[in-house]
Amino acid sequence: MKVLCFGSINLDYTYRVKHFVTKGETLSADSLQVFSGGKGMNQAIALSKAGADTWIAGAVGEDGKQLLGQLEEAGVCTEFVKVLRQERTGTAIIQNDAEGDNCILLYGGANRTIGAGQAEEVLGHFGEGDFLVLQNEISGMPYIMEKAHKQKMKIVLNPSPMEEALLGYPLEYVDYLILNEVEALQVLGREGKLEGAGLFHAVSERFPSAVIVLTVGAQGAYFSAGESVRHQPAYPVKAVDTTGAGDTFTGFLVGGLTRGLPIGEAMDLAAKASALAVTRNGAAPSIPELAEVEGWAL
Ligand code: RIB
Repeated sequence: MKVLCFGSINLDYTYRVKHFVTKGETLSADSLQVFSGGKGMNQAIALSKAGADTWIAGAVGEDGKQLLGQLEEAGVCTEFVKVLRQERTGTAIIQNDAEGDNCILLYGGANRTIGAGQAEEVLGHFGEGDFLVLQNEISGMPYIMEKAHKQKMKIVLNPSPMEEALLGYPLEYVDYLILNEVEALQVLGREGKLEGAGLFHAVSERFPSAVIVLTVGAQGAYFSAGESVRHQPAYPVKAVDTTGAGDTFTGFLVGGLTRGLPIGEAMDLAAKASALAVTRNGAAPSIPELAEVEGWAL
């Protein structure tokens, strides 16, 4: 079984700051580092490191060609990534504070050139039972989902960043929905108090045919296991940089499932991998190797 991650590839300009800059303020950063990132690239690397046979599809500008080398080094096949002359690679401006939290400003660049043509071309190489892993940082999502569904691929959606337009996508085709509490409330079109297990049940009712994974930060995650709901605790660590931790979680979870792990084991692997990722700087560079995750003891 093959896994295709159709998603964003970014250059992350990460500024270490004492606090997030606010309206009207000019703030000096303590450091600037440029990391490889983008939810698609991060998840593809995590998938591959978790043992999945992984392809990435997407687009970069000529300024992002070196990112393809990093993907290949991690074992990801990049033949479906276009290198465009006229576009810049997607960019993220990331502020990272002393608690390891971040806020992110995105410029889509080449990620926003993806359309029906590329979807047709790429998806023709995949078929029934193969996995398609999507986030929400590229254009062309509805075409990609329609075609993958027709081909009987298993669709994994991490609806991040959540935007109004996503509610118009064919979400009924999603087989695995992996989201956090804020995204869950937005997907349900609700504001307010619903959280944790209650929120999980509301999402499950809205998407009855999907396996739901609801991440709840330091409290871990709720997930569907057949007819029952289970809880995966998070592994407590001192966070340095949380950027890409959610992507590491998704990649290891789906990577574990494609290797035939029962969902409970894949969830535990994902929780460990994302805990390790937050102890390191950067998005893609913080993703651990499988042996390290499996051998990790607190
Ligand atoms: O999920 C983290 C990622 O979000 C970063 O790597 C950044 O590029 C944005 O896409």
